[in-house]
Amino acid sequence: MEIIYEEKSRSFLLQTPKSTYVIGIVDAENFVGHAYYGPRLMEDDVTYLMRTGEAPFTPEKNARDRLSFLDCFPQEFPSCGVGDFRESAVTIKDKGSHVASEFVLESFEIVNGKEKLEGLPATWGSEEDTKTLKLTLRDKVLGLKAILSYSVFEGIDAIARSVKLVNEGKDPVTIEKIMSASLDMDNREYDKLILYGSWARERYIDRTPVNYGVQSTSSLRGEPGHQEQPFMALLEKNATEDQGEVIGINLIYSGNCTTLADRNQFDSIRLMSGINPEGFSYILNPGESFQAPEAVLVYSSEGIGGMSRTFHDLYRNHLIRGEYRDKKRPILINNWEATYFDFNTEKLLDIAREASKDGIEMLVMDDGWFGNRYDDNRALGDWFVNEEKLAGGLKYLVDEVNKLGMKFGIWFEPEMISPDSDLYRAHPDWAVQIPGREAGLARNQYVLDMTRKEIRDYIFERMAAVLHSANIEYVKWDMNRPLCDIGSASLPADRQGEFFHRYVLGVYDLQERLITEFPHLLLENCSGGGARFDAGMLYYSPQIWCSDDTDAIERLTIQEGTALIYPLSAMGAHVSDCPNHTVGRETPFETRGYVALAGTFGYELDITKISKEDRAMIPEQIQMYHKYNDLVRTGDYYRIASYSKNRYYDCYMVVAKDKMEALVTYVQVMGRPNSHSRRILLKGLCPEKTYRIEGEERTYRGSTLMNAGILVENLWGDYKGKLIHILEA
Ligand code: GLA
Repeated sequence: MEIIYEEKSRSFLLQTPKSTYVIGIVDAENFVGHAYYGPRLMEDDVTYLMRTGEAPFTPEKNARDRLSFLDCFPQEFPSCGVGDFRESAVTIKDKGSHVASEFVLESFEIVNGKEKLEGLPATWGSEEDTKTLKLTLRDKVLGLKAILSYSVFEGIDAIARSVKLVNEGKDPVTIEKIMSASLDMDNREYDKLILYGSWARERYIDRTPVNYGVQSTSSLRGEPGHQEQPFMALLEKNATEDQGEVIGINLIYSGNCTTLADRNQFDSIRLMSGINPEGFSYILNPGESFQAPEAVLVYSSEGIGGMSRTFHDLYRNHLIRGEYRDKKRPILINNWEATYFDFNTEKLLDIAREASKDGIEMLVMDDGWFGNRYDDNRALGDWFVNEEKLAGGLKYLVDEVNKLGMKFGIWFEPEMISPDSDLYRAHPDWAVQIPGREAGLARNQYVLDMTRKEIRDYIFERMAAVLHSANIEYVKWDMNRPLCDIGSASLPADRQGEFFHRYVLGVYDLQERLITEFPHLLLENCSGGGARFDAGMLYYSPQIWCSDDTDAIERLTIQEGTALIYPLSAMGAHVSDCPNHTVGRETPFETRGYVALAGTFGYELDITKISKEDRAMIPEQIQMYHKYNDLVRTGDYYRIASYSKNRYYDCYMVVAKDKMEALVTYVQVMGRPNSHSRRILLKGLCPEKTYRIEGEERTYRGSTLMNAGILVENLWGDYKGKLIHILEA
């Protein structure tokens, strides 16, 4: 990892282990250009790649035509209104409503380490393992400063970028668009990869060519949503899972976001990511600053898999915080699919008693323990224990669970308010709404205005009171509807466009307060399943509930898409009952365990009611979790086969960093008549090492397992699974 300034070529070289990123400063005006992002180069001058001397420019540097220059010069921070007609990274309106800005370099600084981003989640690093380049750009007319930050990390092929605007002018300006990163690159017939989905089928993978014009994936829901991810990857046409060049971009943000690729007249591509500009506008008064979220760029020459492993390493080592980052998580049993709203102290204790016998380590009490929450039509906001359900009170229940040797966890949905709640009756203006227009309900709830400090204070005070009242060691923070009918009673008319961003900042503020007040708490984020599974949330909670769809077969696709970016250590995954509550499918209990093993692992069923055969498997599954979780949580993940592509089977593996151990998960989704065993080529092992497969006598060289492969017998039936444990011999 290195950041070098080359005086002669006026360029900055950002070196990661296998990639180089080059920024060039051009002309007496100090335009900030992008010269190169690709395989690692030796120190050399590649600023010729910016083509500043070519047609359609006039050859004389200072006499060249400004518009034709700006409209094709590869820019690091393209602005709007002065001649670059491509997608802009920044759109500024001045006090006279003119839209124009032009940022050129004023100064730079290279520092060890990395500063925190004010109020926002971001990657972090120490002075030893992280370096940051800060470019200070200025629009001279507006007096506006843009500080572009680029951080590189020891041993990781990623660059974290962010932008801060500081108004040093005399007049207010309005930011109408601010992208966190923009990358101009030559088109090499790239494909693009995005994630799309819906409730219960989050994060499906989609690969299509980058065509002419703008192609984007964007959210306007106030969160990324089940439907979108703040992510895109550009892939060389021939890039595969294991080979070829891939550049991925992911925004560390939990609100409205957009990621786009714009292929233009000269066949170059502009890739960018940031806050969705639709509905966004932000007034910056003189002396004020605006920090845009951080975007992460990952370069891989080892295909899509290499990109995923780099994101995993970066997020495990430089994003997730807290004591659970590196710890095995307690195996929990959650009562949602077991009881829904129909529970009381006795029922929960019955579940806990049985669960404790099998080695389950934590009981999580889900939705329905507060106010008159007997169904999902009421009581959100009334965070007072319902003692009709919880006879003896919360402390009694928690103490009894603790006596069984188990931890206790609880569910909250802090950002919401039901119209039928004491809180709403007392404070109807606390709900997000537009005066004179009836706000739309979803799941019969409104959204609390998290931009307002007094509302956050109230919610924090209620949550803290509950959490201090008993030994509660885990919180599931849910968020079950998107945002619309945007209006805040506390924002003036010209600042309503700041709402979405201020809302997200409010959520971050509240989560930060919570984990500061309760530093030992294990926080799990959730949003109607996986609607807010994003890197921003990972800064506050080391795990996120992946999807309300707990069916093992559906989960193969959901977890594969999730692991495209996010580490397995973060994926909330549980064994649930069958027929599955979402799809009605019956799958073997064993397979459900194998699939949940790729995530945080836990149970979501009524242990007092499941069949004896299933129940008998729980202690074995728990042993399995303890045996493999360190490997799954910390190892390198390799995709081998997706049943969504091949129709029949799914296979992935995790290899220990020291290559001494690996675990292959194989699921035969559909049995196939009259077929031989299947040959599987393993990945990521050390070719020279000698390995054995647990349960077998013989040994194999790593190169044999990867090039010749192993044979997996045809399993009898559908949805059958198998684990293959590989150890250094
Ligand atoms: C969401 C969550 C579920 C459960 C319910 C409770 O849908 O994803 O796991 O907590 O809310 O209402």
